[in-house]
Amino acid sequence: MNSVSENLLALHNTSKSLGGVRLFTGLDFSIGPRESVAILGESGSGKSTLLHLMAGLERPDQGEVLWLGQNLQTMSDDVLAMRRLHNIGLVFQAYYLMPHLNAQQNVELPLLLAGQKVDHGWAAHLLEQVGLPDKGHRKPGELSGGEQQRVAIARALVMKPPIVLADEPTGNLDEKNAEIALEVLLESCQQARAALVLVTHSQHIALQLDQQLNLAHGSLT
Ligand SMILES: Nc1ncnc2c1ncn2[C@@H]1O[C@H](COP(=O)(O)OP(=O)(O)OP(=O)(O)O)[C@@H](O)[C@H]1O
Ligand SMILES: [Mg+2]
Repeated sequence: MNSVSENLLALHNTSKSLGGVRLFTGLDFSIGPRESVAILGESGSGKSTLLHLMAGLERPDQGEVLWLGQNLQTMSDDVLAMRRLHNIGLVFQAYYLMPHLNAQQNVELPLLLAGQKVDHGWAAHLLEQVGLPDKGHRKPGELSGGEQQRVAIARALVMKPPIVLADEPTGNLDEKNAEIALEVLLESCQQARAALVLVTHSQHIALQLDQQLNLAHGSLT
């Protein structure tokens, strides 16, 4: 979609099998600053696995994954983890919030892990943007599924990462809050010149992104 030098995230000729089933073969993908791509596809087609490959949480069987032009294969696990913290904002399908931390502390956690000064105002602003201005003190167990999902979105944006990967980030939200969450993701990525890859089952959501790709039978089309 863009010139090679501008790629924030690229997959070259990537193949992956899980449990003896081949999910992708020779997959190519690239995305640059301020671009957004929706990934659609049937349940089980491999969308979450694809996002995990993009996030460097799974290694491809063949091919390459590059962040900002750098091949993940060349990085040690420690370097990969630190780069992930800075480069990737990830909203998982299951939100993986820390149960013992409150919402505000969950949003701030990546800043702590990166050894950065924790900007409480910025974390509170993100919580406000996702429609949770007064829930910062609540622990995940005291929040609804949709509220937890929105905390996870705020957490993914707190480091202002160049690449945002979101797996069904509006799956548990009513129409109004889904629109709000999508708007926050799209606007934050625009402002930060970030790339957004978003998995969704909703055509309506997908059509609000720049490009729509369907994952089926191991190919993105
Ligand atoms: N660790 C694993 N070991 C073996 N098979 C796996 C593993 N993880 C996922 N799979 C299988 O790989 C396929 C793709 O799974 P994946 O979670 O990527 O699908 P998906 O497109 O995200 O589905 P959904 O829309 O339901 O979230 C599925 O058939 C799944 O059962
Ligand atoms: Mg999935």
